[in-house]
Amino acid sequence: MKLTDFRGLLQYIPQFREKTFVIGLDGAVVTGENFSNICMDIAVLRSLSIRVVLVHGASAQIRSLAQEQQIAPSNLDGSGITNAETLKLALTAANRLTHEILEGLAANDLRAACTNSIIAHPLGILQGIDHQQTGKVERVDVEFLQTLLENGIIPVLPPLGVDGDGKTFRVNSDSIAVAVAEALKAAKLMFITSHDGIIVGDHVIRQMPVADLESVLAMQRSRVHPELLSKAIHAVAACKAGVPRVHVLNGSTEEGLLAEVFTNEGVGTLVYANEFQQIRRAMKKDVRAILNLTKTSVESEELMKRTRPMIEKQLGDYYIFEIDKNQVACVALHTYPEHSKGELACLYVSPSHENQGIGRKLIQFVENRARDLGLSELLTLSTQAFSYFQSKGGFAEGSPDDLPPARREKYDQSGRNSKVLVKRLKPTTPTPAVDEVKK
Ligand SMILES: CC(C)(COP(=O)(O)OP(=O)(O)OC[C@H]1O[C@@H](n2cnc3c(N)ncnc32)[C@H](O)[C@@H]1OP(=O)(O)O)[C@@H](O)C(=O)NCCC(=O)NCCS
Repeated sequence: MKLTDFRGLLQYIPQFREKTFVIGLDGAVVTGENFSNICMDIAVLRSLSIRVVLVHGASAQIRSLAQEQQIAPSNLDGSGITNAETLKLALTAANRLTHEILEGLAANDLRAACTNSIIAHPLGILQGIDHQQTGKVERVDVEFLQTLLENGIIPVLPPLGVDGDGKTFRVNSDSIAVAVAEALKAAKLMFITSHDGIIVGDHVIRQMPVADLESVLAMQRSRVHPELLSKAIHAVAACKAGVPRVHVLNGSTEEGLLAEVFTNEGVGTLVYANEFQQIRRAMKKDVRAILNLTKTSVESEELMKRTRPMIEKQLGDYYIFEIDKNQVACVALHTYPEHSKGELACLYVSPSHENQGIGRKLIQFVENRARDLGLSELLTLSTQAFSYFQSKGGFAEGSPDDLPPARREKYDQSGRNSKVLVKRLKPTTPTPAVDEVKK
């Protein structure tokens, strides 16, 4: 891990300390080559005081066990009918897997325990079909799980439930993960699968608000990859039950679990409930973020180079767009009140948040500030995004003569030959104070 990665990671540590992550592991992931690395990633989460619950599936193992024993299972994933023979297979497969997980965790000095904390009842007769020993979660024994978590023990939950009479039912592991995440008020539910994320058509979804995924399921369900349909359905169910973030990622990606948790970009799919967005004034602690955010654009000459002292000197001009306390975009408004002009500068949106209208929101925000300050013209200089400012921001092409004299001098010295874009501002009613602009 690079030092810069480590710094990026540090910002998340207070955010997740003592929070609960429920991790749903597909059975195929547990027997996959990367499983020992996943256990190491879990050890990192635990070392940062993140509480972890593991829920695992077993369909891949039920399938191979059935082949070995030449039995045709009545269902694999715990959502169809479970006859007595299939329940037997599920018990053998699940117990083996639970044990493999316990072994993997033990190899990383992690304490873990298999529990009977999922209280289930029969799924019953649906549309005239008796689902026999398929169960659904009736209740999660929260107290039991919390006792383990408080003592630093990772609960490991198989895709099975028991009722008050001690009868066992086969329960779909995704539905157990959702029920547990809801009951424990988890900060995250992470599904680790054999795919790179939720695939719709040919594309892996990177980030999606739950309402959008819900409408994909309603209108384009057939476009969702069949092996990820259950994840998509359960991701929506979890967000609607109050889990703020659901991730779906590939178990064979090295350090994938950590990258998903500790980077803004992530590696899989993030489905989120309500996010907290705000535009706020930049503070001294944001200078590093501004430098880091804009680094690649400075290198590619989209943005002019700004040093730390330059930013610090004009810090009052800078604004940050943050999502859930992560800085994802920035912009500045430099003013020339004697000429009634303002300059929109240093507009940058992180690649992981492009094309979500954040750039436009920041242009609109700067425009409103400029109006509130009584400025009549907004300028911006651009080498590569001039058509963006024209088509999305309503700017028109101007010339260096539009710049106030002091700015013009710097322009001539820089040799960047940026295009100058201009927008006349009509006065409107004042906008709310900066820190109230929340979406
Ligand atoms: C340019 C930039 C600010 C756009 O931010 P954004 O939040 O992704 O933009 P929005 O979501 O508001 O708008 C997206 C639209 O703009 C278009 N767009 C993005 N960058 C563009 C560019 N350089 N030129 C023309 N159009 C562009 C997108 O194709 C998309 O079009 P659509 O809505 O028709 O699909 C961002 O890409 C960026 O930070 N670029 C690097 C830095 C830079 O050039 N800054 C401007 C100089 S001050």
